[in-house]
Amino acid sequence: MCGIVGYVGPNSSVAVLLGGLSRLQYRGYDSAGLAVLGSDGVLETRKHAGKLKILIDDVDASPLVDGQTGIGHTRWATHGGPTDGNAHPHLGDDGKLALIHNGIIENFAPLKQELLDVGETFTSETDSEVAAVLVGRAFRETGDLTLAMRQVVARLEGAFTLLVVHQDRPGEVVGARHISPLVIGLGDGENFLGSDVAAFVEHTRRAVEIGDDQIVTIRPDSVEVTDFAGAPVDTREYEVAWDASASEKGGWSSFMRKEISEEPDAVYNTLLGRVLDGAVAFPDLGGLDDSVLKSIDRIVIIACGTAAYAGMLGKYAIEAWARVPVEVALSHEFRYSDPILNERTLVISVSQSGETMDTLMAVKFAKEGGARGLSICNTMGSSIPRESDAVIYTHAGPEVAVASTKAFVAQITALYLFGLHLAAVRGSLSAAEVSENLTELQAIPAKLAEVLVASAGIGELAGWMADTRSVLFLGRHVGFPVALEGALKLKELAYIHAEGFAAGELKHGPIALIEPGQIVFVIVPSPRDPSSLHPKVVSNIQEIRARGARVIAIAEKGDAAVLPFADEVIPIPLAAPLFEPLLSVVPLHIFALELATAKGLDVDQPRNLAKSVTVE
Ligand code: M6R
Repeated sequence: MCGIVGYVGPNSSVAVLLGGLSRLQYRGYDSAGLAVLGSDGVLETRKHAGKLKILIDDVDASPLVDGQTGIGHTRWATHGGPTDGNAHPHLGDDGKLALIHNGIIENFAPLKQELLDVGETFTSETDSEVAAVLVGRAFRETGDLTLAMRQVVARLEGAFTLLVVHQDRPGEVVGARHISPLVIGLGDGENFLGSDVAAFVEHTRRAVEIGDDQIVTIRPDSVEVTDFAGAPVDTREYEVAWDASASEKGGWSSFMRKEISEEPDAVYNTLLGRVLDGAVAFPDLGGLDDSVLKSIDRIVIIACGTAAYAGMLGKYAIEAWARVPVEVALSHEFRYSDPILNERTLVISVSQSGETMDTLMAVKFAKEGGARGLSICNTMGSSIPRESDAVIYTHAGPEVAVASTKAFVAQITALYLFGLHLAAVRGSLSAAEVSENLTELQAIPAKLAEVLVASAGIGELAGWMADTRSVLFLGRHVGFPVALEGALKLKELAYIHAEGFAAGELKHGPIALIEPGQIVFVIVPSPRDPSSLHPKVVSNIQEIRARGARVIAIAEKGDAAVLPFADEVIPIPLAAPLFEPLLSVVPLHIFALELATAKGLDVDQPRNLAKSVTVE
């Protein structure tokens, strides 16, 4: 969850680190800190609870010694509240060493006791300070920062990325990763470390993945990577597909608003180069060739939060097209449910960040159980694709706002592409049927652009609801995950009670919640849908209307049946049923954004949350 950046090179480390932290803020924003090694050989640290701005203002007012080596951290608190004292860096070796940490050190309590017993003292409640003290002690004995790190990581349990600098080792930053992420940025006479490439993409797009259980030492003109035992390992360099401007606000009032506006592009770019002559053209599905795909008899989609709702939509599409049974499981539940896995099970993980720890651990678990693994991921170089047999990258571009929006529509697009590919390989759809569905998918970006225009009035709608305390969302079939997504967005951004229900479930309990004035969003299926869902949902609307609900319907343009019963109708363009969610979700994203804005809340960094959940 925390953001980590390290730098060695000729430039001002304070500027590089603060720039990196600004881009990493989405990973955690309850405190931030820096340690820099001045050219006078003195290590200086500065850290504060609260948003990064507090640290930046402090450094502006009272500049830190500047040098060419440093580390920076933006925190999402796990052990110890968000206070100045618990903020990173933490110190070791009598203040000569500084350490930052992302993850959780599960055995920190016995280690801390051991250190207390030998007279060490602590100034924070964190697990991280234990690592700082341990590395400091190991350095005092060895005089070698890399070796000291190696000795300490062998004693740590849990998940961690650590970076350290020591004032006796100018021009050197040592990092280690165990499960939590760490990436190297290669510069010219300078090198970088970051929890993701956003930390350094302003300076270089050349990146190197660091594998699990590896240690890296960067100096201005060298990078050395070894395993935890000290043996050198091969690394793979790649080019980051986006530049710094892609992760900047570009004149928008918030990243979330910008990212919603990019939903059409996210779908378009995810399709780009993957549809050829009416068929799906995946250049490389690694270990999942046609013979493997034909042998699959069950699919499990694992994900968390919004990505899990994309997974639910993937289930409808894959089952409809490829006729393979699909289950959707929350990653953190999947692992502990004793699932039946074998080489005919395909486990599809869906993750924007590629670092969600619950999903990463579930992917590893499925692999150990003999299942095949496909990752649908938005972040190149991240951990989950590396643990999978194949990856389909969503090309949504960097998503910075904590609330996932454009990544959601890109995930659905990638799952649908895979569903159509699987159906073609297994012969469950004809070439003409595959082509027809791909045409529907290719029409989505233009329709999304229409939805964005048609949603212009949602700000006003949200404005008069600013005091509302509860909003319900109803949908059926593919409208159900959309209802869940609408509710999740409202909870995380506007901090109000919001629930999504399958509309058919209403009469089994939730209808008791309806009282005069209760706001209910209803995702209405197309009246052209050959199933009988449309009249059923219209009946549901009448049932809640009769009990005083205020109904906002998201319905197909021209759906006359819904007009008499809805207080407001947000129209969406015509699309085949399975594709409607890609359109109907957008007004809900906008509604959550506008309601939170009307309440004066920070939509990019909602309280208690982090973009990348790298702890279990
Ligand atoms: O990076 P991931 O896609 O794996 O993240 C999964 C969830 O943590 C994420 O979708 C979360 O629910 C969002 N904040 C929802 O907007």
